[in-house]
Amino acid sequence: MKTLISHCSSALSGQARVPGDKSISHRALILGALAVGETRIEGLLEGEDVLATAGAIRAIGSIVENKGEQCWAVHGCGLGGLNEPNDVIDMGNSGTAARLMLGLLATHPMTSVVTGDASLRSRPMDRVTTPLHKFGAELRGNEDGKLPITVFGTADPVPIHYVLPVASAQVKSAILIAGLNTPGETTVVEPTPTRDHTERMLKYFGAELNIYDANPAGRTIKITGQLELTPQYIRVPSDISSAAFPIVAATLVHGSSVRLNGVGINPLRTGLISTLLEMGAKIGIENETNDGGEPTADLLVTASDLRGIEVPSTRAPSMIDEYPVLAVAAAMAEGPTVMRGLRELRFKESDRLAAVASGLSACGVKIEEGEDYLIVYGQGRAPVGGVTINSGLDHRIAMSFAVLGLVTREPITITGASTINSSFPRFVDLMCALGAEIRTPKTECVAK
Ligand code: S3P
Repeated sequence: MKTLISHCSSALSGQARVPGDKSISHRALILGALAVGETRIEGLLEGEDVLATAGAIRAIGSIVENKGEQCWAVHGCGLGGLNEPNDVIDMGNSGTAARLMLGLLATHPMTSVVTGDASLRSRPMDRVTTPLHKFGAELRGNEDGKLPITVFGTADPVPIHYVLPVASAQVKSAILIAGLNTPGETTVVEPTPTRDHTERMLKYFGAELNIYDANPAGRTIKITGQLELTPQYIRVPSDISSAAFPIVAATLVHGSSVRLNGVGINPLRTGLISTLLEMGAKIGIENETNDGGEPTADLLVTASDLRGIEVPSTRAPSMIDEYPVLAVAAAMAEGPTVMRGLRELRFKESDRLAAVASGLSACGVKIEEGEDYLIVYGQGRAPVGGVTINSGLDHRIAMSFAVLGLVTREPITITGASTINSSFPRFVDLMCALGAEIRTPKTECVAK
């Protein structure tokens, strides 16, 4: 497993384009598989998580071609036209891939087995299997209901009405995808809005979908099933959750000025930007445009001193993956940063609340960890660092501490860093090209 050493760096500068959005990439492949004909996807994230989804849709009969330069073609077999897989489907490290695929498999009459790596096999799946049972499918996991799960897809799915008990775009999306091959109208109600890439893309593929934002019970999405999807041309924006790392790095490293091009700024994903701006960050938003129903922009980040704030807990779904790197920013801010409503962080690729708390305190940062909150007592100056952090098979933990190492007094070593490839291939190259000093034990910075 690769080890990285992140050293205190001088000013970062230049421009970069971070890889394609992971959430959108998964959805483009899956909806492409459910349309009849060729869907073209430009800017697909070629990280391990998305490649697992590509493998999964191949296993059920789609032809998936890598055309080069992040351009991919999917020849879908259409709703109801899938093949039964003849092997176990391995979703690797990806919770999104696993949960969305369970939704797809549940309402197709075939038997399949879905598994993943040690991290994914430890994550809760009952949040998707419970609603998928209501469609009439049978999903049998291990004794905790976790992966590996055997899916006995139903031949006669019945539409459901489901109120999400947790704010989760994965669960919402699994239900909508299951609803696609179900006759009649499936309804999902989300008391707290979560990223809406599935809804946007379903509309783009011509699905019959209605959204009621003003429903007192919560945002209500209705999908009419068993209508054909039309293949599309999709340009995937850069992933704001990956951009988060150079954004925080450029904010923290003195004298930095970095431009990140073509970043997705879907309002249900931009909680980190709002939070950093409230903390005193300087982030300009330029060249706003719209690509296939998703807003994008260039982000111009210049270094600035930060102050601690209380982050509204209602903002959590719009920055759920960004708390580890926000906690890193908070460690350099003046005064405490209070982050609440974070229970879901315990169910990510690792228990991110615990990983952030133990990693930051090892680096000399005062931190308070509660069941669903984190308070980081920033001192307005660089923490000591000088520790080794194990990624725990969690790409965002690895990248967050690599960012922290750019400002700590002693370098930070990250073990198990290969997991970064699940969402951000060439992370080290991109960061080094901006001037970051992130090295492997025996090499110098790989900057071009
Ligand atoms: C995702 C939703 C979020 C997020 C994950 C990607 C998605 O998970 O943490 O990285 O693509 O739908 P939850 O839906 O479980 O909150």
